[in-house]
Amino acid sequence: MFLCVVLGRPVDGASVRSVRFRLDRFAARQRIASRFRGFGDRTFFVASWHHSECTLGDVPAALAVSGLAKRYGAVEALSGVSLEVGESELVGLLGPNGAGKSTLVKIACGLVRPTTGRAEVCGVRAGSREARSAMGYLAELFRFPGWMSADELLKLHQRLAGSEGGERERSELLELVGLLDARARTVEAMSKGMQQRLGIAQALVGSPRLLLLDEPTSALDPVGRRTVRTLLEELKRRGVSVLLNSHLLSEIELVCDRVVILLGGKVVAAGTPAELARPRGVEIETNGGARTYAEASRDDIPRLIAELVQDGQSVYGARVLTSTLEEVYVEAVGGETS
Ligand SMILES: Nc1ncnc2c1ncn2[C@@H]1O[C@H](COP(=O)(O)OP(=O)(O)OP(=O)(O)O)[C@@H](O)[C@H]1O
Ligand SMILES: [Mg+2]
Repeated sequence: MFLCVVLGRPVDGASVRSVRFRLDRFAARQRIASRFRGFGDRTFFVASWHHSECTLGDVPAALAVSGLAKRYGAVEALSGVSLEVGESELVGLLGPNGAGKSTLVKIACGLVRPTTGRAEVCGVRAGSREARSAMGYLAELFRFPGWMSADELLKLHQRLAGSEGGERERSELLELVGLLDARARTVEAMSKGMQQRLGIAQALVGSPRLLLLDEPTSALDPVGRRTVRTLLEELKRRGVSVLLNSHLLSEIELVCDRVVILLGGKVVAAGTPAELARPRGVEIETNGGARTYAEASRDDIPRLIAELVQDGQSVYGARVLTSTLEEVYVEAVGGETS
């Protein structure tokens, strides 16, 4: 049972009732019906309408899992994982093979039941009809019917998702993933990378609020990866939240707002790439070559440059050194792979 705090702000000219409102199943559905309203830097959902008045509530996280555990016989795939993907947030889920990434995503989709713990999509139980209609999913190992064209496949998924986007939605999605010219091509006549991009377009049918992508760029060439990166940035601008599983650390570093690292079914590190990065000193480029000051920080740079110039050296540049996500990752997982 939820209690929704009513906010005294108008929506579309309607006055807002200042009472507390108990959210029932109907109200939960309203949240997913995307009646979102933005004020300043915050977004609220319309929890209920009362003639010309309405009640606003906080927007729940696109994905919230807490204390999630999954056991397959003797194998503990997840043991007490908690994480959130907020609105318009792009979270990268990293970890060695067998860390539990796909298991977590499958639980979020409702394909796998957790042994214990909770998983909610947009405030409703993962796997419920409401939750499924709010998310799009690209599986790690997917296979589409070879005889279907790109356009036919998207049409099928529009029917399955109940999307009324029609031809316009299909063209927009195919354009987003760079497959507009290949819309009539059958899946079996596509390269692996093209199929993967089609898979991303399929996950976007019906404009989901949450996108779950399990290694979506593993088969892509560098240009294809860049297409997906641009696409993810565009989705963020449109308010879509994304959980992205990947082993491509440089890519995760480029696009993700936050990173969660799993090891043996547990979260071993989490934060923004900048929070996770450790300072590693300062490098100054002089006519005598690059010099590294391992103990120095950004604040030391003016003094270091002044000393070098006083010494008669020419300075061409200075930069603060931090550990890369790859270094953070290797440290967090202790060099483990399986
Ligand atoms: N259906 C299943 N039955 C039994 N064990 C399973 C099943 N699915 C996954 N596991 C086990 O659960 C653990 C986590 O697997 P999962 O697929 O979630 O890892 P992952 O992090 O996605 O790995 P990868 O990077 O290789 O995709 C592994 O030990 C795996 O063998
Ligand atoms: Mg996996």
